[in-house]
Parts: sequence; structure tokens; C-alpha cells
Amino acid sequence: MLTSSTEYCWPKQRPEWRDLVNRQLSSGKLSIYDKSGVVADFEDAWSKQHDVRYGLVMNSGTAALHSAFYGIGIGPGDEVLCPTYTFFATSASLFQLGALPVLVDCLPDGSFDPEAAARLVTDRTKAVVITHMWGLPCDMAAVTAFAEQHGLDLVEDCSHAHGATFRGRRVGAFGAAGAWSLQTQKIIAAGEGGVLATDRLDVYDRAQLLGHFNKRAMNEMDPDGPLYAYSVTGLGLKYRAHPLGIAFAVGQVAELDDWIGGKQRYAADIAEYFTRIDGVTALTMSTPERISAHYALLFEVDPGQVPGGRDWLVAACNAEGLTDVDVPKATSPLHTLHLFQHPMSPVTTYDRACVRSDYPVAERLAARTFKIPVPCGPRGFEDEDDRYLDAVRKVTDRIAAYLAPSHTGALTVNDTADGQDGVA
Ligand SMILES: Cc1ncc(COP(=O)(O)O)c(C=O)c1O
Repeated sequence: MLTSSTEYCWPKQRPEWRDLVNRQLSSGKLSIYDKSGVVADFEDAWSKQHDVRYGLVMNSGTAALHSAFYGIGIGPGDEVLCPTYTFFATSASLFQLGALPVLVDCLPDGSFDPEAAARLVTDRTKAVVITHMWGLPCDMAAVTAFAEQHGLDLVEDCSHAHGATFRGRRVGAFGAAGAWSLQTQKIIAAGEGGVLATDRLDVYDRAQLLGHFNKRAMNEMDPDGPLYAYSVTGLGLKYRAHPLGIAFAVGQVAELDDWIGGKQRYAADIAEYFTRIDGVTALTMSTPERISAHYALLFEVDPGQVPGGRDWLVAACNAEGLTDVDVPKATSPLHTLHLFQHPMSPVTTYDRACVRSDYPVAERLAARTFKIPVPCGPRGFEDEDDRYLDAVRKVTDRIAAYLAPSHTGALTVNDTADGQDGVA
């Protein structure tokens, strides 16, 4: 076992970012009512990097997704195609609009499957939302072709994929709106927060109306537009971001491209270490067209080759001190969750189902995969991230040796031969 458990440390704490938080605190401006200060700085940097006209920071990724759906005009009775293999917040806010997520199976790498989606299109389908799971972009040529063919608006949940690109273009800018979480664990981390990006003025205006009433909406919306009369009150929600969180995150945005570069190198090493164990396959590596943000790397374990399968391997890594290796339980396929099995909305009742097909690929992923965070070695923090990488190498070496036919060394986890033993 390692001398102590090794956890991946994120977010990093760059002194400049802390200074900005302290300055914001000292200014006494703990609410920002309009597009100004660190909020404007973040939004302008974000929309510029994504080559779209508008950015709008929020208090969560969930709020950004809700605003995206409201922004494109989703309402009661509408259906939105949504991956079952995602975090539930990708589509749960649709219930607030009285709309219904219709769950779609995924491809073996966890990305959106347009063919499976095509089988679920009805005359109520208005939009499709996709998630770039674990940072790996979906095949956006196929996704946009699918959306166009069926006349659907596209929303991208990029909460795992800050800085990821498809054919050189940042994800989040391919459809009507992109939404990102800025929660603590995310690649750009405000603690809690979110951001929406769109090239469409109608989406931006409606999103402001939903949760950014008064000063912001009044300043930004067209006084002659049909919705302006609502700008003083908004529509009953408040989604403003906390300035201290945004102050902490704003400096991170300029470093994102470097981090994505760093992540490619660390991901290659981590994949190499884990795949030395027979029966372990890396599922979410970048391809020349799809550059992953590597929020995490996903591995599949073949129980035919690793006795005890995925659960044993995760327990072995954890017992050896690699506690970040885990089964992504929060991303249990949505069709297994009560909310989606028995859809309930605060604004309407449903006589239709979210679950309308089988989901063999998502179920296989849920049964056989584990994930591990990928470092990016930000300038000045390379040693910290290298130490983590070294811990990954040592633990995987030990497990590979233990599982090899020569069966060398011992683990904190007991013998795996019958697959029955747990952590000692
Ligand atoms: C894929 C995905 N979508 C949406 C969200 C929701 O973001 P937030 O927690 O900021 O509301 C998350 C957050 O964990 C996520 O991982």
C-alpha cells in the first residue's frame, strides 16, 4: 500500500486568483447586478473563446441548462431527446418547464447515438440535448446532421468538457446553446456556478428573463422588444452567480488551452498504466478530431480477464491508496432513476414515458466501467500532478503484477481467484 492515500487536488489555488477574490471581497461588491466587473470579464472571455456572441454566468450548471431549454422555447408537452448515460441534471430541469426528456442509449464510448435517437423522434420532439461525457466530444458532425434532419434545436451539456474541441472548434458552440457547470470539481471551477453561451439573441434574452431580472435584463434587452416589459421582474427565478466564485474562476479561463494540452499527456500515461492490466480498456481517449477535455478517463473492465471484475479492481485501487478511482454512481443511467421512471413535474402531469426503449450500451457501461480524474499540470503545480501520476503508476504496477500469471507481490485486497473476496 502507498504510505497514504493520494487524492487528486483540484481546483488549484493560484495566488493571483485568491488576490482577485480578496479584492472583490474588499470592494464590498458581493452582488453584481448587471454585466460588469468579474462577471463581464468572465462572460466576454468565454464567448470570445467559443466564438459566439453571448455568455451569461449563472449560479449553477443546472441553471444554465434550464435557461438554455427555456431560451430555445421548450414548454409544456414538448419532448427533448436526452442521453440516458449522463448526469441527471442534463435534462432534469425540463420537468420544471413541463417538458419531457425522452431517453436515448449511447455509443460504446458513452457519446450520443444519433441512430438510437432517430428511432425516438415523435411529432412532439422539439430539441436534442447531448453531453460530452468525461470530456470526450460527441461526433458533432453526426449530431448536427441529426438535429438538422429532424428540425431540432441542439443544446450541449459541456459540464465535463470545458475546452474540448471537435475538428478544432470548441464544444458548446455547435447548437442553439452550450451550458457548463463551474462547480468545484469541474475543469473551470468557481465552487458553485455555471455559464451559458449562445450565438442567438432570442436565447440570450429569454435566458436573462428567466433568472437575471431587473438591472441586467433591463440594460441588455431591447426596450422595444416583446419581452422587455417583463425585464424588471423576470419570471420568478434568480440565477445570478456569486461574484467571489466568478472572481476565483475568471483567471482560469486564460489557462484552459494549456490545461487541455497537459491533460492529453497525463491521459496518455494513465491509460498506458491501467491498460497494462489485462482486461482493462480505455474508452474515452482523444482522437485526431475529438480532443477530450479529460475531466476524467473512463476504463472498461472485462470480468472474464479480471477476476472479480470492475468492482474488485476499484476496491484494489482504493485499498492501495488511490481513492479517486471510482464507479461513477452519480451518473447511473437515467432510466434507472425514479424521476425518469415516474416523471413528475411541478407544472403538469404526464401521460407519456421518458423510458421508451432498451439501453444495453449504457447498462454495460454502468456495469463495467470506472473513472479516474486526469491532471493537467498547470504551470507551477507540475510537481503536485506528477506525484499523483506517480501514485497511479505504482498502484497499477502492483495490481498488474499481482494479476499476472506469475502472481508476484501482495495487495491489501485479498486473493481474487474466486472473485469473492473484498477489501481486507
Ligand atoms: C454532466 C453534468 N451536467 C450538469 C451538471 C450540473 O451542474 P451543477 O452541479 O453546477 O448544477 C453536472 C454537475 O455535476 C454535470 O456533471
